[in-house]
Formats: sequence, structure tokens, C-alpha cells
Amino acid sequence: MTATVVVGAQWGDEGKGRVTDLFARRADYVVRYQGGNNAGHTIVVGDERFALSLVPSGVMYPGVVPVIASGVVIDPQVLLSEIEMLRSRGVDPSRLRVSGNAHLIMPYHRKLDMVMERYLGKNRIGTTKRGIGPAYTDKYARTGIRVQDLFDTDIFRDKLEAVLAEKNKILTRVYNQLPMRSEGIVEEYRRFADSLLPLVEDTSQLIWEAVQAGRTVLFEGAQGTLLDIDHGTYPFVTSSNPTAGGAAIGSGVGPKVIDRVVGVAKAYISRVGSGPFPTELFDQVGDRMVDVGREFGTVTGRRRRCGWLDLVALRYARRVNSLTELFITKLDVLSGFDTIRVATGYNSSGETYTEFPRQQRVLYNCLPVYTDLPGWHDDITGARKFGDLPPQARRYIEFIEDHVGIPVNWVSVGPERAQVVARYR
Ligand code: GDP
Ligand code: IMO
Ligand code: MG
Repeated sequence: MTATVVVGAQWGDEGKGRVTDLFARRADYVVRYQGGNNAGHTIVVGDERFALSLVPSGVMYPGVVPVIASGVVIDPQVLLSEIEMLRSRGVDPSRLRVSGNAHLIMPYHRKLDMVMERYLGKNRIGTTKRGIGPAYTDKYARTGIRVQDLFDTDIFRDKLEAVLAEKNKILTRVYNQLPMRSEGIVEEYRRFADSLLPLVEDTSQLIWEAVQAGRTVLFEGAQGTLLDIDHGTYPFVTSSNPTAGGAAIGSGVGPKVIDRVVGVAKAYISRVGSGPFPTELFDQVGDRMVDVGREFGTVTGRRRRCGWLDLVALRYARRVNSLTELFITKLDVLSGFDTIRVATGYNSSGETYTEFPRQQRVLYNCLPVYTDLPGWHDDITGARKFGDLPPQARRYIEFIEDHVGIPVNWVSVGPERAQVVARYR
């Protein structure tokens, strides 16, 4: 491996954190390229469970340089408390490097995220309310404030006052909120600046030099393909590009640097927040996935919506990310079902779709076309080789490979580091 992207192939929470943690053992750099603290990446090491939202999952290994690149939006308060949390639990975060071009999440972004969702009522997106959408909006409106602005108080104050003049009109006149004052924000962010200054670097240059020197670089995606602002189920998406192309843009390297793109998908599928979901289950099967899979959000604690694996969506993820291989997680959660269903198409208005529909309307009213496969009742959490899995579980994995057209190189059977079946190596 030299440069590999780990990308969520569904609606997020596929297990990207645990996959990155597994691969990071052999990596030199682990780079977050988009998103912010809407992400919640869980890593289980023995009895310890770490939930990371901004610091790349590679931080757990002393030989890895974790990098937060320019495509990420950073809430400095959250970043600093995550660094502190790691330190207090015996993990050394001092190698962390942060791009000066990354945009800052400001207090008015969090406020706007909250009130905009409230105003949308039943049409709400179900955001994580961390200010992600409003921060990216300002970035593209060219009114954002970047990490590097923290280090010149005059520039910071000028930019803040210019943007607050507009935000306060929106907050007070549109959303009936109190205005925000610049002094308090300047003070608060000046304190953050002191702590962040030693971490800031030209991360594009850093990654370039690493690639030139033949070092191993892992790009850790957040969210997932179907939450991508361009390729996801818009508007029920996040405000960045989690897809593999985002790794190049968000970290300042060209696409030719990337040689492998590993799609991470659960053996079933989940979604948090609103939006279409063809294979969603509303019965005790879905409840069981939630219970056994502990499907509650890492960031917001919300119950995740669950359903059978959707191969139409997974083939789509293969295409829009140029996936080279798959990592299937949480296969253990499917143990105990007599039958396992997999969607291989959608039916809508007399038409059958085997490719992801161009018209999103179809996703709302379609019925999945299911193939039923035999389940297994064995406990598979101790499996370490493909041959350790019962024949039905192997057949399930092979069915996925046949339909998506790329190899499933890893299958995980539990949240811990060792609970992985690595094939072909
Ligand atoms: P991410 O956002 O993609 O990193 O995924 P999350 O960490 O939000 O959610 C995945 C959850 O599944 C975490 O609680 C993991 O510890 C857990 N997990 C990951 N892989 C497995 C697995 O193979 N089996 C089980 N039972 N849990 C897993
Ligand atoms: P990880 O990296 C699952 C969802 C939110 C909401 C939509 C927009 O842990 O897989 P936002 O706050 O980003 O504006 O919310 O996107 N969402 C996620 N769902 N996993 C995530 O991250 C998510 N990050 C955002 O629930 O539906
Ligand atoms: Mg998550």
C-alpha cells in the first residue's frame, strides 16, 4: 500500500474508524480530508473504546503522523478537547498536523445549524447540529474564516466583524435569535490559537513529500458515498465530498497519487437522519439489527435506521469512488437469521432498476427486489480465516463479490482489532 483511500460506501457509520485503525498499523500518515465533528469513528482496543470525531484514527499508533487536511472544517473547541481526551487516556496526540487552510466552525455556524433545522420542521435534514453545513456554506461563499486567520488578531477581528454584520441580521430578523458579539468570540478563539499554533503546517506539502519518499499514506473518509453533496441523496446529505475524489481535493494531492480505494460497507445498511432508504426495515428484524449491532449514533446518540444490504447502492458506490475492493463489517450481526435478504434491484411504476436511479423520486416509492439467501446460526465472532466461516456466510460474501464485481478482501466479525478475516493475503 502506498496511498489508499478508506471510503464509506453507504450512509456513514460503516466502520471506517476500525478499518483505518487496522490499516494504520502499516501506515506512516493518516489523513482526514473532509467533514468535521459530524463524524464519529469508533475504535475498540482491548477493553478500551475510543470515539474520534476529528483526530484521524491513526493517532493510536506511535509511528503514524495524523493529519487534518484543508478540506476538513474544524471546531477548535472540539479538536482541543479531543486532543486532551487522548492525552488523558495515554494516547500521544503530539504528532498531529493541521492545515492552515482548513476552515473554522464558528459559534454562529452551530447556532444557524440548530435554528435552520428547527425552521425546516418536517422537512429537516436531521443534521448533527455541529455547524457543518453553515461552515461549508461560508467557505463556498468566500466568507469563511480559516485556521491561519487565528494567528493574526487584526485579520481575525476584521473578518469576523464583516461576517457577523450579515449573520446577525439573519439570526435576528429571520430566526428571531439574539445577535452575537464579536468581542467574546475574538477572546475565545485567541485562546484556541495559542494551543493550535504548534500543530499547523502546510499539509499538502507534507503529504507530497511523504508520497515522494515512498511512505504509506492512508486517507480516512468520513460520512459515506450516499451522503456526498454531489453524488448522495440530495438534499439529505452532508455538505462535503466523502467520495474518494474528495481525498485528492481535500488534501491537496492529485488523483494519480491514489492507488487503492477500499469501500467499507456493513453486511446490512444503516442511516441516521432523514431521507430515502429503499431497504429500511420497520419490523423486529430491523429492531434486532439495532440491538445486536448497537446502532446508536456515536455523535448524537440517535437510533440508526437499519435495513437489508442494498447492492444497487453498493454497485453505485463502486462506480462513483472507483472502488478497488471492499471491506465488509459487522457480519456477526447477521448471525441467527434463518434467511438473509439482499436487494439486487428496485421496482417502481412497473419498471425494474438495477442501476442507482437517475431520478431520486424512484428511491422514495420503489420496492426492493430481494434475493433470499440462507442464514447461519453459528457464533462467527472467533473466525479469523475465510474457511472458519460457515458455508452460508461465505456464500453471502461471495454473492456480494459477484454482484459488485470487486473482491471482498476483508470481513469483520466483531468490533475489536483482531476480529477480522483477511482474505487473499
Ligand atoms: P464509522 O463512523 O464508519 O467509523 O463507524 P462508527 O464507529 O460510527 O460505527 C461502527 C460501529 O460498529 C462502532 O461501534 C464499531 O465499534 C462497531 N463495529 C465495527 N466493526 C464491527 C464488527 O465487525 N462487528 C460488530 N459487532 N461491531 C463492529
Ligand atoms: P461518520 O463519519 C452517519 C448525516 C446526518 C444527517 C446528514 C447531514 O461517523 O460515518 P451534517 O451534520 O453533516 O450536516 O448532517 O448527514 N451524517 C452522518 N451519518 N455518519 C456520519 O459520519 C455522519 N455525518 C453526518 O445524520 O443525516
Ligand atoms: Mg460514525
